[in-house]
This record gives sequence, C-alpha cells and structure tokens, in this order.
Amino acid sequence: MKSLKIFLLLSFIASILTAAETLEQKALKQRLEPIPADIQVLLSYISDKNDPISDDKIALGKKLYFDPRLSKSGLISCNTCHNLGMGGVDGVETSIGHKWTMNPNHLNAPTVYNSVFSKVQLWDGRVSHLEIQAQAPIQSEAEMAASSELVVARITSIPEYVADFKKIYGNDVNITFERIASIIGVFERTLVTPSLYDDFLNGDDKALSKKQKEGFELFLQKGCTKCHYGIALGGTMQPFQVAAKYKFIELGDFRGDKYGMVKTPTLRNIVETAPYFHNGQIWNLKEAAQEMGSIQLGIKISDKEAEKIIEFLHALTGRKPIITYPILPLSTDKTPKPDAD
Ligand code: HEC
Ligand code: HEC
Repeated sequence: MKSLKIFLLLSFIASILTAAETLEQKALKQRLEPIPADIQVLLSYISDKNDPISDDKIALGKKLYFDPRLSKSGLISCNTCHNLGMGGVDGVETSIGHKWTMNPNHLNAPTVYNSVFSKVQLWDGRVSHLEIQAQAPIQSEAEMAASSELVVARITSIPEYVADFKKIYGNDVNITFERIASIIGVFERTLVTPSLYDDFLNGDDKALSKKQKEGFELFLQKGCTKCHYGIALGGTMQPFQVAAKYKFIELGDFRGDKYGMVKTPTLRNIVETAPYFHNGQIWNLKEAAQEMGSIQLGIKISDKEAEKIIEFLHALTGRKPIITYPILPLSTDKTPKPDAD
C-alpha cells in the first residue's frame, strides 16, 4: 500500500514535470540542435582538419565556385545550379548542364547552404566530404563535362590563380585537380545560415512568433524529427515510402541507395528551395509536408496543420553570409579555349 502511494506520488510529479517541459527542451530531446551561436564553437564544427578553413582559402574557393572556366564550355559554374542568390539551388525540377543536358536520373539540385552539417552528400549519400564531392560535378557529362586535365590546364595557365595557391600551400604546391576541388569544399563549409529558429534554441524565447511555436509543436508531435533532426534537420540516410508510395516515383529511375534509403534533405531555407523531392515534382511546400505525412508517417496532415508547420518552416530561413561577387582573374594565351561541344 505504501509503495503504491509512493508510486502514485512519483507519477504525479512526473506528469507535472512533463507538462512543464518547454518547447525548447522537447526539441532538444528529439535530437534537434541549433547552429552554435559562438563563432569559435561553430568553426570547430565546420572546419575539416585535412584542409582547415582560412581567409585565403575561402577567397580562392569562392572564386573557383563562381568560375565557369571549370566547365568544358566555359559557361557553367557551381553557382549555375547552386545559385547563392537563390537559396543555393537552380529553381528547376531537374538540373540542366553541359549542352543543355538534363540530369540523367531526373535529379533536383539540393542546396549547398548548410551542406556542411549533412552527414552524407547527394541523394543516395554516396559521398560524405564536400572536398571530394566537388570533383564529381566538374567531370560529369551532364553537368560541367570537364576532364581533370582540362581543369588543371585552365587553372595553371592563369598566373593569379597560381599565385593564390602558392600563397596558401607554399611555393612548391602541386596544383592538382583534387586540390582545386578541395578548396571549393572549404568555401562551401562557410555557407551556413543561422536563423530565428537557432536564436530560439539558443535561448531567445521571443525569436519565434506564437504561430511559429504552434507549428514547431506540430512538427515535433507529428514525428518529422524521426528523420529531419540534427543541426541540418536532415542530412542522414533514411527510409523512403515507409507507409505509402511517393506519387511521382515513376519519374526518373532514382530509387535511393542499394538499400533503398534516401538522403533526407535539410529543411533549412526550405521556403527558398522549391521545387521539392529528388525529382523536383512538388512545387508547393504545403503539398510537400502533406505528402511526407502520408508516405513517411502514414498520417493525414490537414490543410490547417500543414499551414502551421509551414509557419514554423519559415523560421528556418537563415541569414546568409555576405558574398561579394568575385572579380575573376583573366585567362591568358595558354588557357585552353571554351569548348561547347
Ligand atoms: C548542372 C547543374 C549542377 C552543377 C553545375 C553543379 N551541381 Fe552540385 N548538384 C547538382 C545535382 C543535380 C545534385 C544532386 C545529384 C545527386 O544527388 O546525384 C547536386 C548535388 C550537390 C551537392 C550535394 C548536396 C546535398 O545536400 O546532397 C553538393 C555539395 C554540390 N552539388 C556541390 C556542387 C559544386 C561544388 C559544384 C561545382 C564544382 C556543383 N555542385 C556543380 C547539380 C549541379
Ligand atoms: C521516415 C523519414 C522521414 C520523415 C518521418 C519525414 N521526412 Fe521529410 N523527407 C525525408 C526524405 C528521405 C526526403 C527526401 C525524399 C525524396 O525526395 O526522395 C524528405 C523530404 C522532405 C521535404 C522536401 C525537401 C526538399 O528539399 O526537397 C520536405 C519539405 C519534408 N521532407 C518535410 C517533412 C515534414 C514536414 C515531415 C513531418 C510531417 C517530414 N518531412 C517527415 C524523410 C522523412
């Protein structure tokens, strides 16, 4: 009898404690994490020990990111498909690259903003390092279509680029294709966008409006954080079509990695990165959230609920780093000419 009383008392206290759990506490419990407010802590998160961040590397990486001479045609840069003025995406269903070629798997370009917080990159998660990832689009026939030799020849024919590399890595630097890609990766690491959501999780209770808090509650309650968690609210491999079929699955041949798992996209800046899903078939964010409810959670999300969740998703639109458009160094007589073929 005594132990029953104690038990009842304890459960009563427990219920009070749970009821008093704040939205912030609930979020942290569900593995959500803010972008650290402290710049030193943030740096330790984003810098990679193999090619640590420095101001000179960021400046060179930025030039290369914007330089279309990394493509065979001399027309396409990383920024063509990951436009930093447009949420880090191209805004089309499926990316279009060299010779107006569509992505052969009908894949939509994910944003490069905050990709540093993703555990894996690409829809099938086949790479994890940004420094390595950057090699692929340069060489891909449907993207920039440039051989590694061509890229090295273009860069080493431009004295200002050679000087930049020497300044960073010393006079006997070997300007390889891998190094060129790596420095772009270093620049990408700095593309982080703290938002009102982060301010809230970092302790500013007033950062979110009442509506956004309601939406946040729903986001947690519905189970979105089963897959959209961590700093990125995404970025790990998760099952797809758990409860039902994605209505546009037939478009394109993408079916995930060999286990059928798909990289969960970050939800940061989601308002800016339509169209949605791997084949870019859903333009409307409300529809995207409702589709997630039915295919991933097996629940129906009403129009009202979806609208609230979207109020919350707006709080994930981040403050972008200020990026001054770089003036690119001139080509020389030795620079291999653009080849549109
Ligand atoms: C023609 C358009 C195009 C160009 C040019 C392009 N990309 Fe991409 N990018 C894509 C597409 C499409 C994907 C998704 C491909 C996949 O998952 O297989 C992607 C994926 C990525 C990802 C993974 C993001 C994530 O969340 O999974 C990163 C990082 C990236 N690109 C960086 C770059 C860099 C750096 C460059 C320049 C060297 C570049 N891209 C050039 C279209 C492009
Ligand atoms: C079981 C894991 C899982 C759950 C639960 C989940 N998602 Fe997703 N989400 C994913 C994956 C995986 C994708 C990418 C699917 C694809 O395009 O192939 C995705 C894509 C999205 C997209 C489109 C992102 C883009 O850039 O294209 C949005 C928006 C989204 N989810 C919101 C939500 C919301 C809101 C919830 C809760 C109602 C939710 N998700 C629940 C795994 C999940």
